[in-house]
Amino acid sequence: MVQQLIDKQRIANSFSNAASTYDSLAELQRQVGTELLDYLPEPHPGDILDLGCGTGYFTPILKQRYPDAYLYNLDLALGMLHYARSHRPAENASWLCADAESLPLADKSINLIYSSLAIQWCENIGQLFSEVQRILKPGGQFVFATLGAETLSELKVAWQSADTDTHVNRFFDQSHIRANIHEGLNVNSFHEDSKILKYRELKELTDELKGIGAHNMNSGQPVGLVGREKLRRFKAGYEAQRMADGMLPATYQVFYVVLEKPLEN
Ligand SMILES: C[S@@+](CC[C@H](N)C(=O)[O-])C[C@H]1O[C@@H](n2cnc3c(N)ncnc32)[C@H](O)[C@@H]1O
Repeated sequence: MVQQLIDKQRIANSFSNAASTYDSLAELQRQVGTELLDYLPEPHPGDILDLGCGTGYFTPILKQRYPDAYLYNLDLALGMLHYARSHRPAENASWLCADAESLPLADKSINLIYSSLAIQWCENIGQLFSEVQRILKPGGQFVFATLGAETLSELKVAWQSADTDTHVNRFFDQSHIRANIHEGLNVNSFHEDSKILKYRELKELTDELKGIGAHNMNSGQPVGLVGREKLRRFKAGYEAQRMADGMLPATYQVFYVVLEKPLEN
């Protein structure tokens, strides 16, 4: 039996619970999603999918950019979709609650897939790329941003000084992502950009991760409360990484990728 590393229901619940706080805390997500817009192709009509749309922040932006397109907003978390639909309604659009690894869309039905900071939550990235290849029309593109393995490395280091449990989500490195791209998709571009966010206090970072729903969702995480001594060691482990300017760093390794399904001969 294949061990499930990620609990999808927990991810859905965590993001659903975060729907009302997400927008006020998701500064990095705003920035990355906005930078990702630069990778989108020139306007053309057709069907667009925002994969892992969250609160729908990018719905009006995509609608403005592609006014004639039909927009599917898809997310695993029903709470996110309710929030998106009520706060960012749109014409010629629908909201679908589904898993990116099993898309409820027909073969060759979508011209463009936009996805910002969502696919890092997938269990099997190869399965995701296979689904993307299936639903894209020939000539269609998958434009996505995702997080690399160096993301939140300071948090991992700090926890390693406390215990051996898995406290931080695993993120895939570039070679793993590339190796899993479906052979029916061409890589048009693959860019990396690391961002270092700075916090005065560790609690600001941990509150932010909680507030956007990005808890640790991997297996191997501790059961029950973390003891006081472990917590002390964790905090000391993070404090030891305080920078010369007095701030605590949190690294985000971001990949911006454009894949294209070739035109059929
Ligand atoms: C960090 S949020 C990003 C939301 C939005 N794209 C943005 O940039 O504001 C990640 C979103 O991906 C969704 N998600 C996680 N795993 C998913 C999956 N397997 N299929 C579809 N959506 C998923 C979460 O529910 C969450 O809304």
